[in-house]
Amino acid sequence: MAAALEKQRATTQSNEYGTALAKSLFIRTYGCQMNVYDSARMADVLAPLGYGLTDSPDGADMVIVNTCHIREKAAEKTYSELGRLRRLQERKADEGGRMVLAVAGCVAQAEGEEILRRAPNVDIVLGPQTYHRLPEMLARARRAADARDGEAVRGVLDTEFPAEAKFDHLPTSARAAGPSAFLTVQEGCDKFCTFCVVPYTRGAEFSRPLADILGEARDLVARGAREITLLGQNVNAYRGEGADGGPADLAALCRALAEIEDLARIRYTTSHPRDMSAALIDAHRDCDKLMPYLHLPVQAGSDRVLAAMNRRHRVADYLDTVARLRAARPDLALSGDFIVGFPGESAADFEATLALVEAVGYAQAYSFKYSPRPGTPAASLPDQVDEAEKSDRLARLQALLAAQQHAFNQATVGAEFDVLLERPGRHDGQLVGRSPYLQAVHLQAGGAQIGDLVPVRVLEAGQNSLAAERRAS
Ligand code: SAH
Ligand code: SF4
Ligand code: F3S
Repeated sequence: MAAALEKQRATTQSNEYGTALAKSLFIRTYGCQMNVYDSARMADVLAPLGYGLTDSPDGADMVIVNTCHIREKAAEKTYSELGRLRRLQERKADEGGRMVLAVAGCVAQAEGEEILRRAPNVDIVLGPQTYHRLPEMLARARRAADARDGEAVRGVLDTEFPAEAKFDHLPTSARAAGPSAFLTVQEGCDKFCTFCVVPYTRGAEFSRPLADILGEARDLVARGAREITLLGQNVNAYRGEGADGGPADLAALCRALAEIEDLARIRYTTSHPRDMSAALIDAHRDCDKLMPYLHLPVQAGSDRVLAAMNRRHRVADYLDTVARLRAARPDLALSGDFIVGFPGESAADFEATLALVEAVGYAQAYSFKYSPRPGTPAASLPDQVDEAEKSDRLARLQALLAAQQHAFNQATVGAEFDVLLERPGRHDGQLVGRSPYLQAVHLQAGGAQIGDLVPVRVLEAGQNSLAAERRAS
């Protein structure tokens, strides 16, 4: 009897991915917020199999590298990370264990097979649309490894764009949500800017039904979220199935979310200037929960370059959209993305980008040197700008954007607003939160807790953060 039980236990342990055992999972995330969201959902998918998150790859039973392919440097990081992880896998094997290594995200989607060739220590390569199938891939990888114990085994590859929507196959999370949570509402991109890999790595635009999003939002709020940032590569192109079966746009989604009582703040990112509809601008006017901060990338300030980028908007359209937004919500702050040194960008084109930045005035912005991405139309354009010139332009643009960010922060000194407390600060009794304009704000907690929304007065401003004091509610 005891022997039979022992045998059964042994079978259970080696069976079904080891459900009975507590296993450690480490996920390294690169790239955009959508990857951050995907990483959290991969952890949810693996939790029922006994995997719990750990904060170091050293000794972990499974490591997932969730990758980004947007610029060359981002993709290179993947291979150096895989090299470093190989040593940890060897150490784990020396100790009689096994570390399963999976590569997810946009490099996985773009390079697929090539990853298995260059990094034979990788067990699983999966794209952004297949991570609901991770348990099945894990089982296949295990079976392959067991069958050919000790020999090199070819990894499992799943980078399809399956017909079934992964969102319908994801479990709800049991973990507490942070005060500020991400929620993916739209994926993929049909815009095909000539420099960008996203339409290839994330596929065609797809919007989740409104009811599913509301359900996930309510669940996040029940688990502690006070702020939700709606995510999509083209979030303001959102067109999901609405309550009446007809299409609902992002404005309708924001208005519906605002009805959730304990949800205090709504944000969304990333928006395309062309999809900034009148209805969405009206929502910024009417909906207090929609935060007065908008990431609205323009990329360049010259119509010639915008046309070559296939951005489908001109400088004047962008400035008009910004003016309408500011008329609707006068305190709206803007952030943006810029690319310098796009093929054929002349000195005059670049000056036009500086002029646009001067005209708009950004609270914060990201700027990059153009990075040719294999397979995208711009990579084979003539007149690639030389590297030294790109660096020079980037430095000039970044100096201007940094000065604007500093001026924006300075202008909030003395201002009073609410801060959502998100994490402990570096000093005793200090907490750090976010202003409505997404600035990091440091303050003495004085009894307030992470997750509280507290009224403050801004005392001082730095380049990247503010110091504030609490006011009586
Ligand atoms: N969907 C968003 C941006 C997604 S990618 C939009 O349409 O604006 C994030 C940013 O990376 C882009 O806004 C762009 O500024 C930058 N980027 C994308 N491809 C790039 C490339 N090949 N070289 C340099 N920067 C790039
Ligand atoms: Fe890329 Fe352009 Fe689509 Fe943004 S809109 S994801 S930059 S192709
Ligand atoms: Fe990178 Fe893919 Fe996001 S390429 S920026 S992780 S959509």
